[in-house]
Amino acid sequence: MADVWLTPGPTPVPPEVLEAQGRHPVFHRGGGFQRLLAEVTEGLQWVLETSSDVLVLTGSGTGALEAVVVNSFSPGDRILVCVNGFFGERVAAIAGRFGLAIERLDYEWGRAVRADDVAAALERLGDVTGVVLQHSETSTGVVNDLAAIAAAVHAAAGDPLLVVDAVSAAGAIPVRMDELELDVVCGASQKALGATPGIAFVAVGERAWQAHQASTSPRYYWDFSEYGAWMKPEGSESPWTPAVSVLEGLAASLRLLRQAPLERVFELHRLNAAAVKAGVRALGLELFGENIDAGVIVTAIRSPEGVHPAALADHLARRYGTVIAAGQGPLSKDVFRIGHLGYVSAADVVAGLGALEAALADLTGSAVSGAGVAAAVAVYRAEASWPRRPSLGPDEE
Ligand SMILES: Cc1ncc(COP(=O)(O)O)c(C=O)c1O
Repeated sequence: MADVWLTPGPTPVPPEVLEAQGRHPVFHRGGGFQRLLAEVTEGLQWVLETSSDVLVLTGSGTGALEAVVVNSFSPGDRILVCVNGFFGERVAAIAGRFGLAIERLDYEWGRAVRADDVAAALERLGDVTGVVLQHSETSTGVVNDLAAIAAAVHAAAGDPLLVVDAVSAAGAIPVRMDELELDVVCGASQKALGATPGIAFVAVGERAWQAHQASTSPRYYWDFSEYGAWMKPEGSESPWTPAVSVLEGLAASLRLLRQAPLERVFELHRLNAAAVKAGVRALGLELFGENIDAGVIVTAIRSPEGVHPAALADHLARRYGTVIAAGQGPLSKDVFRIGHLGYVSAADVVAGLGALEAALADLTGSAVSGAGVAAAVAVYRAEASWPRRPSLGPDEE
């Protein structure tokens, strides 16, 4: 197993989470499961800052995206899909597969979705049923300005349903579902929440439930009505056998997260991101994408001349026990990505930057100066904070 995980997800899993999911699962028709689901649902509402229903699904983030498409819209519905990377493309592909009429707002990968472009597109298109975008486009590290975009959508004629893919954002940056009046938000267990893969979730606002009633898309496993039928005041359950063990882990992870105020969780993401970016820049590498300082979840970096990102990632994993990710799609030959979401500690960041410099020296013949490590340490020291493992408790004196 690798020593250091700096990936866009799955992220490092704290021992408390592994222990919890190593226990024998509770029966999914009974009080034990009802309590588990209630705890997870409430924790996810806390993360998303919402009082909306949160449906817990067995699946990955892509499953949640498909669930949202088939429950919110009908074949032939016109929706605006903002595409500024790999996951925007995925939403467009899913919506196309289910017969929606897709209007795309396309950007070069690495650019952010702009609220004024969304406003202009909605005005030009007239009535559309919905708008879908990524809060954090994990393929490029770009974080879109959700507050501004939500305001643009709410100001548009017809008040389209606003669907937000927060798969890599939830638990790393504020999503503020209720304050921003988001209709649907989806996420997954293996990203900033620090659990293992296998659970996805969809927060469904009131307007989204109404849209669901009107939607005629074919669906069975993901049908929100099935989930609704199992939501009961005396204890909710899942319509189908859920991934109980992953839920146990997610509950443990949310318990750890909730030891600190949510603001502190966001603050640690900002700090680790600043340290990574300072370290990478000090190694003379070029960061990729727009709004780099807002990109507190994943940092995309141009690979040096002659170094294929996949070869770098492979060498880092094999020789230095450090997991990073290559770029995706058209960026796969140019960009590699360091993830700093979830239970990432300062120790992970410092070790990862050291390993990165060593790997680059191996592959290019460059000298090792320690500049990356020094720059990251300087960031932590300047802020008098050294995120610990699991990183979200208060620093100990
Ligand atoms: C923003 C975003 N959306 C969707 C997905 C798809 O999630 P999964 O790989 O869990 O299916 C990911 C995964 O990285 C993601 O980052």
